[in-house]
Amino acid sequence: MAVIRVHDKSFETYLSEATILQRVKELADSISRDYEGKRPLFIAILNGSFMFASDLFKQLNIEAELCFIKLASYKGMKSSGNVVTSIGLEDDLFGKDVIIVEDIVDTGKTLHNFLPKLVHQQPASLKIASLLHKSEATEFPLELNYIGFDIPNKFVVGYGLDYDGLGRNLKEIYQLI
Ligand code: IMP
Repeated sequence: MAVIRVHDKSFETYLSEATILQRVKELADSISRDYEGKRPLFIAILNGSFMFASDLFKQLNIEAELCFIKLASYKGMKSSGNVVTSIGLEDDLFGKDVIIVEDIVDTGKTLHNFLPKLVHQQPASLKIASLLHKSEATEFPLELNYIGFDIPNKFVVGYGLDYDGLGRNLKEIYQLI
């Protein structure tokens, strides 16, 4: 098991690259089946979900659209809870089948605050795909439709997720020791 340092903290391997990619493929297959004959719009939430969104999107075998938005600031290891307004959502969601793509749902606050803004635009359907879910940390319950891994309530980095700006480029996911 590899131990790495990011800033002042040590992390150990938690999910290997192969494990992540296998699960992402399974999620893409489920989505492709569920949306057969449709053309969903994936809205990926920056920065953390860029890698998951890319791998998930590549594995789809249906027509689909993708856009990115930026929502919240998350400093250090504790959610700041400061959800800023979305940047970059130019698409009109009316009548579209929308799938939100998140890296991780922790307390649920980010999506809980953002979803009403999307619902307001009257999409035909609205679902959530999150690579990781810390179900023990839930404070704002959400219906998550596609979950990669339910993980313990410990801080993780890698595969797009950062600790104070670093660690996003790691191919694996590491857990705080
Ligand atoms: P929530 O609003 O508490 O659900 O937090 C969601 C956001 O917090 C995610 O999109 C991440 O950016 C960030 N986050 C939560 N837990 C972690 C973690 O363990 N590592 C890195 N970022 C995290």
